[in-house]
Amino acid sequence: MKILVTGGAGYIGSTICSALEDKGHTPIILDSLISGRVEFTKNRIFYKGDIADEALLETIFKEHNDIVFTIHCAALMGISKSVEYPFEYYTENISKSIKLFKKLNELGCNKIIFSSCSTMYDDDVETFMVTEKSPLKPKTPYSRTKYMTEMVLEDFCKAYNMKGISLRYFNLIGADPKMRSGMYSSNESTILGKLVNVYKGRQENFKITGVNWATRDGSGIRDYIDIWDLANAHVLAVENFEKAFEKCGSDTPYLTINLGTGEGVTVKELVNSFEKVTGTILNKVETEPRLGDIGGAYANIDLAKKMLNWVPEVSVDESILNALKWDEVRVQTLKY
Ligand SMILES: NC(=O)c1ccc[n+]([C@@H]2O[C@H](COP(=O)([O-])OP(=O)(O)OC[C@H]3O[C@@H](n4cnc5c(N)ncnc54)[C@H](O)[C@@H]3O)[C@@H](O)[C@H]2O)c1
Repeated sequence: MKILVTGGAGYIGSTICSALEDKGHTPIILDSLISGRVEFTKNRIFYKGDIADEALLETIFKEHNDIVFTIHCAALMGISKSVEYPFEYYTENISKSIKLFKKLNELGCNKIIFSSCSTMYDDDVETFMVTEKSPLKPKTPYSRTKYMTEMVLEDFCKAYNMKGISLRYFNLIGADPKMRSGMYSSNESTILGKLVNVYKGRQENFKITGVNWATRDGSGIRDYIDIWDLANAHVLAVENFEKAFEKCGSDTPYLTINLGTGEGVTVKELVNSFEKVTGTILNKVETEPRLGDIGGAYANIDLAKKMLNWVPEVSVDESILNALKWDEVRVQTLKY
C-alpha cells in the first residue's frame, strides 16, 4: 500500500517509513525539513514542502493516486518551546492540520492516523495509570495543540465521511534496530538523549527534575516505549484499520488508542538501567521540576492490543543499547 507520511523526515516519521518498507508498503514523505533530516528521506519518495501547501498536496496525489492512508506526524515538538512560542505552535500544529485534513479528504484520502501524545492526560496521583477514557487536562500549548487537533479530526470524521485513529504516544526511547534513523540533535532534549550525552562526556551531569512526586521513589514516572515498537504499531494500524473499527462495536468513525508499554518506570529506575547496561555510574543532580512537568503517567494498553493486534516487544535495556549504537552511527557517519 502507498501511505503518505507527513513529517517522514523526523525521528518518528522516518522510523515509521522503515517499518512500513520492511512490511512491503511504500511510504511517500511530505516534510518541510523545518526540523527533520534530509538523510532520512534517502531512497524514498520525498516531497519537500509544507503540509498546508494545497498545490503540493494536489501534485502528490496526481503522481500517486493510489495513496490509501495518511500518517500525520508533522508538527513542532517541544513543551518548553511551546510556552515561549504559542503562536507558532498553534499555527503549525492546529491550523495547518485543519487545512491538511480537509484537503486530504477532497483528494479522496479519508483515512488518517494522527500522532498524538500522552501529555494531555490529567495527573492521576493514585495509580498513575491512564486509559483512553481517563480525564484530559493538557497543561502546555504543545499538549493543547495535540488535544485540539484530536478534536478537529474527530469532528471532521463525523461530518465528512472520514475515518481517523489518534495514537497517543507515551515516552519515546531507542532507535531503529537496523540503524537507519534515530534521535537527531534537536531531539536531545529527551531523557535518553541526555543520558547518552552525560555518558559520552558532552554534558556534565544528568538532572533528575523533580524528586518529590508521589511515586515509589519520588522521581517522575513515565512509560518508555521503544521507537521500533511504536513504528510497528503504525504498520498494524494501517493493516488492521477497518478491523479496529469493526472490533470497537460502535459505528464511530474515530478512535483514540494509547501506545505505551503498560509498565511504569521512574526516572531514577531508567537511570539505574542505563548505568547497568553501560556499567558506568553517571554524575547526577536532583533539581526542581521544569515548567509544565507532571508526576507522570503510564499507559493502559489493552485497547492497542485488542484493536491493532499489537504488543510491545523491545525491552528498556535493548532500547538503551540501540540508542547508544545510534549515537555512534549519527556522530561517525552522519556527522551531526
Ligand atoms: N518524540 C516524542 O517523544 C513524541 C511523543 C508524543 C508525540 N509525538 C508526536 O510525534 C510526531 C513526530 O515527532 P518527532 O519526535 O518525530 O519530531 P520531529 O521534529 O523529529 O519530526 C517532526 C517532523 O515534522 C516536520 N514538520 C514540522 N512542521 C511541518 C510542516 N508544517 N510541514 C511539513 N513538515 C513539517 C519536521 O521537519 C520534522 O521532520 C509529532 O507530531 C509529535 O508531536 C512525539
